[in-house]
Amino acid sequence: MHIDLPKDVKIIIGTLENAGFEAYAVGGCVRDFILGRVPKDWDITTSAKPLEVKSLFRRTVDTGLKHGTITVLLGKEAYEVTTYRIDGTYEDSRHPSSVTFTPNLSEDLRRRDFTINAMAYNDREGLVDDFSGMEDIRLGIIRAVGNPEERFHEDALRILRAFRFAAQLGFRIEEETEKAARDLRETLGNISAERIRDEFTKLLLSPHPETLRSLYQCGISAVILPEFDRCMETDQKNPHHAYSVGEHTIRAIQNIREIDVAGESPENREAYGTIPSESEEDRKRFRYLRLAMLFHDMGKPACLTTDDEGIDHFYRHPDLSERMARTILKERLKEDNKTVDVVCSLVRYHDLKPKLDPGNIRKQISKIGKELFPLLFQVQRADILAQSDYQREEKLQYQDRFEEIYRQILEEGDCVSMQELAINGNDLIRDLNLKGGKEVGRILNELLDMVLGDPSLNERGFLLSKAQEMCGSADRKEEGS
Ligand code: CTP
Repeated sequence: MHIDLPKDVKIIIGTLENAGFEAYAVGGCVRDFILGRVPKDWDITTSAKPLEVKSLFRRTVDTGLKHGTITVLLGKEAYEVTTYRIDGTYEDSRHPSSVTFTPNLSEDLRRRDFTINAMAYNDREGLVDDFSGMEDIRLGIIRAVGNPEERFHEDALRILRAFRFAAQLGFRIEEETEKAARDLRETLGNISAERIRDEFTKLLLSPHPETLRSLYQCGISAVILPEFDRCMETDQKNPHHAYSVGEHTIRAIQNIREIDVAGESPENREAYGTIPSESEEDRKRFRYLRLAMLFHDMGKPACLTTDDEGIDHFYRHPDLSERMARTILKERLKEDNKTVDVVCSLVRYHDLKPKLDPGNIRKQISKIGKELFPLLFQVQRADILAQSDYQREEKLQYQDRFEEIYRQILEEGDCVSMQELAINGNDLIRDLNLKGGKEVGRILNELLDMVLGDPSLNERGFLLSKAQEMCGSADRKEEGS
């Protein structure tokens, strides 16, 4: 096995070797290379102690001196060089609370989480694969190195990492490893929200988000997202549905495909980890959409009612789903405000089905904001396609028409917000001598309402005269009262 190491990595390994130490590329980068994927970053493991590493390179950063990690800077790139070590238990994502350095590569590999992550490579020795990582890659298996319980005791996050790798790679988790994950699932409760969020999000954005089902079956979602378990346990006896709320949710998540969001060709689809799109914006949009699908029906279990005919209904569930999404995104997943806002709006409006006339749709656009609609349409289609076949054609036809009217409104350049109105608050204050504040707001709102009904009225002279009339009528009302 030959790995085509980048030039910088060869320089670092060569420098360490020339000084009499061992050094290898290790972990995720070796795994990714073997899988034919572009490694995100190249980590290096070495027999040199941190201070020895520092002395050999001109520019370094003490990233985790006491854990053995020195960052070596070459040009614009940064490489983590870590001394062979045996770990104690972990306190955060990267650092165990105590480490012992070891001169032995095999001991360093032995403390790693999964066999596919426990391989090392340099040009001198070739691949070091003491735990059959290659074989497990060939078989498509996530297997803990050595005793899985020990590995999970060292760091409970590894339980979730097992499912995350399975979801990203389309691998299955080996039996003993899965059993240990199941047995030790409660210990995930001790892991910080941020670490859980990072792994969970990777799983959700992966090519196999249906791994959520395994998280449920192994009792792991019960620890990190019990609201999802309620969904899995809520049937939907309703002709529009064919699955439980949870199964519907899984399918709806699967229906958000990166290819649709990024508009890329299937050939370009490198289905691993983050989304291979060129654009950061596309990546964000994909993330919003998958999160929105996860939460869109989460309020349903608590909203369930069954009518006399035995049909289940979930009235007002979008409002509750939105509240739940907001709490979970903010407090548990510690998401940024923009993510919370976009995802919550999508959840809240996912069932929006306005009367299909342009005036009404312009009103909806002004209420919700035109930027959200392209995302909302994707949410609605993903939702429909995860329901039963009942009335599917009609639903999709409605959707086509809704989207067409939206597009026409944008093409026409119709006014759909206060900012696009041909006059503003200052005009009213100046021309009509209004004192600002409430009255100005009231008049602008009335004008906007009018213009949304008939966009040809968005004309400065006309709006000012209308505003004048409105002032007059308000004065008269006041006088009369
Ligand atoms: N590792 C571990 N236990 C952890 C985290 C990491 O044993 N809880 C080891 C694994 O050998 C892993 C390496 O440290 O390959 C690097 O970890 P990390 O950067 O978190 O993951 P990657 O395997 O690189 O995967 P990805 O880049 O997809 O996050």
